Amino acid sequence: TLEVKSIIHQKRETAYLGGGPKRIQGQHKKGKLTARERISLLCDEGTFVEYDTFAEHTCTDFGMEKEKYPGDSVVTGHGLINGRPAYIFSQDFTVFGGSLSSIHAKKICKIMDQAMLVGAPVIGLNDSGGARIQEGVESLAGYADIFQRNVEASGVVPQISLIMGPCAGGAVYSPALTDFTFMVKDTSYLFITGPDVVKSVTNEDVTFEELGGSKTHTTVSGVAHRAFENDVEALLMLRSLMGFLPRSNKQPAPIRVCEDPWDRDVPGLDTVVPLETTDAYDMMDVILSTVDERDFFEIMPAYAKNIITGFARMNGRTIGIVANQPKVAAGCLDIDSSVKGGRFVRFCDSFDIPIITFVDVPGFLPGTAQEYGGIIRHGAKLLYAYAEATVPKITVITRKAYGGAYDVMSSKHLRGDKNYAWPTAEIAVMGAKGAVSILYRGKENVQQYEQEYIKKFGNPFPAAVRGFVDDIIEPRTTRRRICEDLALLSNKSLKNPYKKHGNIPL
Ligand code: COA
Repeated sequence: TLEVKSIIHQKRETAYLGGGPKRIQGQHKKGKLTARERISLLCDEGTFVEYDTFAEHTCTDFGMEKEKYPGDSVVTGHGLINGRPAYIFSQDFTVFGGSLSSIHAKKICKIMDQAMLVGAPVIGLNDSGGARIQEGVESLAGYADIFQRNVEASGVVPQISLIMGPCAGGAVYSPALTDFTFMVKDTSYLFITGPDVVKSVTNEDVTFEELGGSKTHTTVSGVAHRAFENDVEALLMLRSLMGFLPRSNKQPAPIRVCEDPWDRDVPGLDTVVPLETTDAYDMMDVILSTVDERDFFEIMPAYAKNIITGFARMNGRTIGIVANQPKVAAGCLDIDSSVKGGRFVRFCDSFDIPIITFVDVPGFLPGTAQEYGGIIRHGAKLLYAYAEATVPKITVITRKAYGGAYDVMSSKHLRGDKNYAWPTAEIAVMGAKGAVSILYRGKENVQQYEQEYIKKFGNPFPAAVRGFVDDIIEPRTTRRRICEDLALLSNKSLKNPYKKHGNIPL
């Protein structure tokens, strides 16, 4: 038994070293941490419990039987993040480039199954050369086993992917199926096929970074939700995000003790909207001054900036915020912002997170690019998401709420629970200029009609007299109002009709 004990000890020590000191050095040289170092930063100290430390691949081709590493190319287990449990897998690039063998996939599937059973989030730290080439179809099967679990877990437990190295080919689809994908700047990339294949197929010259780096995915493709400077910042920010999220769809989001008075007036909001209705202002000021302690975790800050999405707290309760940003493209809705907003709303609804919507929207963006791109079906995503959401929905119209976009942005008609207008609200089919040019086509001196139109629609009354907004409130009281509403609505119960699942326009 002494001998067995010593073998166990030895194997465990070997596992802890992954692919060995030289490859660890290589990893560090690239500015990356090892799989285990990452886990120790992500979890509360000493809380990580590992599974399958002794698992090994079973491949006997290409001389693989002679090259085995205990644990193979992924570290899996569970740990605590700010005292709350999460399941984690961390791919080890020092072992066969973190490539996915059959046993690697089995290890991941095991913790995903456990996460579903106990109701806890799954966090994937991705750093992998893709399918283990030596294992062929075994490895492809492994990916599909993970994909299937990603889909089943969607809406049951939060799933987060952090891309911390290469992630290519089939490997990209697991992150794509998870709720949030984050990247590390300069050291991570995601693509279906690398620059060499791109060159041979389309004759395009493109670098790794241009093709699939964090800038591309956070600003152009919208594949990634946010990028961080380095491994350490990424892991710490991930800890902070986890503080907003519930463990599963059966448990409420954590309530944090709130030092920020819930009934605090926010005088700055009284003057944030400019006198001139076409002047821009920063909706971020409205958000930051309204939420607890100005603490806002933005999702997709660099993509479709005409809409803002992210998590905050009101009197300690987690909320999702969706807000038009008048500073960018006048806050209009377009394809990208609709998809961004729609997906965020659906996440919140899946996990019972109330949605606060700040509205200042001049409508949908006109033009052939948008129409040909399918703004109708993409805009419908945001509409669908709001309409199906049964979580508490509170809406504040700060200024414009024009046209179809008024309906979409969590209007009363889509079962908004509390819909407020600030005195500066203008709720109409369109702006005065456009409206008058249609109503009085060809007429001269339309100025006076414009004035008449503004007088009629440039205020919140037409909506308020019909009950389409519940109240016109002093902006400074917005925080207090929302906190009161959230307390009341915490017992809200609303169910959609039974169905297998809806058919959201994709
Ligand atoms: N299968 C098996 N081993 C792999 C692998 C894979 N998919 N990807 C990388 N490795 C191994 C390498 O052979 C190398 O082994 P060694 O240390 O014993 O020499 C080690 O992992 C590190 O890879 P290396 O190529 O030296 O690292 P790099 O940082 O220079 O490049 C990649 C990383 C991911 C760009 C490169 O390894 C690569 O192109 N891999 C294949 C990607 C791919 O097409 N996968 C299939 C898609 S599903």
